[in-house]
Amino acid sequence: MNEKLTEELNLQMNREFFSSYLYYAMNTYFKEITLDGFAKYMKKQAKEELKHAQGIHDYLIDRNAKINYSRIEAPDINWLNPLDVFEYAYKHEKFITGHLHQLHKMAEEKNDLACQIFLNGYIVEQVEEEAKFYKMIERIKTNAECNCNLNNLNIELM
Ligand SMILES: [Fe+2]
Ligand SMILES: [Fe+2]
Repeated sequence: MNEKLTEELNLQMNREFFSSYLYYAMNTYFKEITLDGFAKYMKKQAKEELKHAQGIHDYLIDRNAKINYSRIEAPDINWLNPLDVFEYAYKHEKFITGHLHQLHKMAEEKNDLACQIFLNGYIVEQVEEEAKFYKMIERIKTNAECNCNLNNLNIELM
């Protein structure tokens, strides 16, 4: 596989590991403020991100490409409230989507059809990933507007 494409896929694997790390940190945040439903929700996301990272890892192995582990950044965890957490997650997913689009473009330029098809799965899944967090933001806002306790939504997720 093309060297630059291999390098970029390795970086994407790192971003997926970081996403997992970030959502585990969000799991911690919700645990600490005893919103266990939200905590569970974030743990599920964290596990999914690990699968994304593993998927890229296995793809690189199948392509006989070199795996390159790089440092995983510590997430910035100074969230103000639950809405802030979900807005952060939504922004992060958009950042990931952007990188996947760039990767796809690169695979196209390198005439790597298999890699393009592999990335299609990730790109389509991002639509769901973004929608998931966007919906949560809207639901939290609606709960706040009607003065409902955030706990109702939290319990629903448990
Ligand atoms: Fe992901
Ligand atoms: Fe994601």
